[in-house]
Amino acid sequence: MGDSPSPDALIEALRAAEGAARRDLDEASRAEDPDAAVEQVRLKYLGKKGEVSRILRSMGRIPQEARPRVGQVANAVRDQIADAVAQAKTAARRARLEAELSGPPLDMTLPGRRRPVGTRHPVSAVWDELVEIMSRLGYAVASGPEIEGDWYNFEALGIAPEHPARDEQDTFFVEGVEAPPARRGAGGVGPAAGAPVLRTHTSPVQIRAMLWQGTPPIRIICPGKVYRRDSDLTHTPMFHQVEVLCVDRGITMADLKGSLQVFARAFFGTQTKIRLRPSYFPFTEPSAEVDVTCTICGGEGCRTCGDTGWLEVLGAGVVDPVVLGNVGWDPEVYGGFAWGMGIDRLAMLKYRIGDLRTLFENDVRFLSQFEGVG
Ligand code: PHE
Repeated sequence: MGDSPSPDALIEALRAAEGAARRDLDEASRAEDPDAAVEQVRLKYLGKKGEVSRILRSMGRIPQEARPRVGQVANAVRDQIADAVAQAKTAARRARLEAELSGPPLDMTLPGRRRPVGTRHPVSAVWDELVEIMSRLGYAVASGPEIEGDWYNFEALGIAPEHPARDEQDTFFVEGVEAPPARRGAGGVGPAAGAPVLRTHTSPVQIRAMLWQGTPPIRIICPGKVYRRDSDLTHTPMFHQVEVLCVDRGITMADLKGSLQVFARAFFGTQTKIRLRPSYFPFTEPSAEVDVTCTICGGEGCRTCGDTGWLEVLGAGVVDPVVLGNVGWDPEVYGGFAWGMGIDRLAMLKYRIGDLRTLFENDVRFLSQFEGVG
């Protein structure tokens, strides 16, 4: 077209563009996705950078008096192409609808596909029940971090670095993470957390809760996940524990025994009896293993209780004065008791589950057997 195109050349170009657009639309209607193809054609001719705009940019370079004539043709061409695009789009949509309608029919009477619906996990059911029983007795729920510092998981509980209890606990040490910060609460700041470990029990929550609260009395229940390097029929590397802690003036072993009896009857049934056997924990003195009458045979003796009539369900004891001292509570004035139990084991006993690992496989067929429990 050179430097100054002739008006006739522009008109020629516009008409040619219209013709080309129609041919492109024709082709687009046979494309795999006609809708999208038609839109491409619209952009190619009518878009800001399209053919028609490109031609019109030369308008400024033709004589003034010829501009209205060229302008009229330009407008007409634009309208024609826009009309053709609109028609092509309508046709494309109709074609798609027809294709859908002539395809295989949708049978609205077919039954829906069933998706397995989750049920409450037995561990959750027992967790909630334990919290409910203890909150009726005035206990509040407390929690702490699962990556715990050495001081909280061991030292503050009377488990010194060389204490044999550390081996028994099969600790997972963690690398590449910071131990959680020292507990800061009304009771001041706890010591630096020390090396990070996955907590081996919920007892460190006792320490955190006492530091947090600052002053006695305290009554808390702490359910949570704990970790030990252990895996067989009755042990999994992650399991659940509940910690119970009560500290007040004049709390004694008698309070522990009475509370355990109330708890056991509420959880296992009103006929349940308890039995305390002397034991050892670094953070309680005296300490006890607590048995309940077998939930299967009621004390007669069966396979589950190994013919003893008793099931061991928890560890307990009177809080060691050293532990109270570690959080700045005067052991001359205050006393306390604590107990800890495995939620998973309680769930196994309550629902008669033979293999602990089934609790963590989350096979819906297994879980659905507990529908409506708890
Ligand atoms: N922390 C103990 C354990 O994991 C259980 C326990 C808690 C014992 C509180 C006594 C008092 O084995």
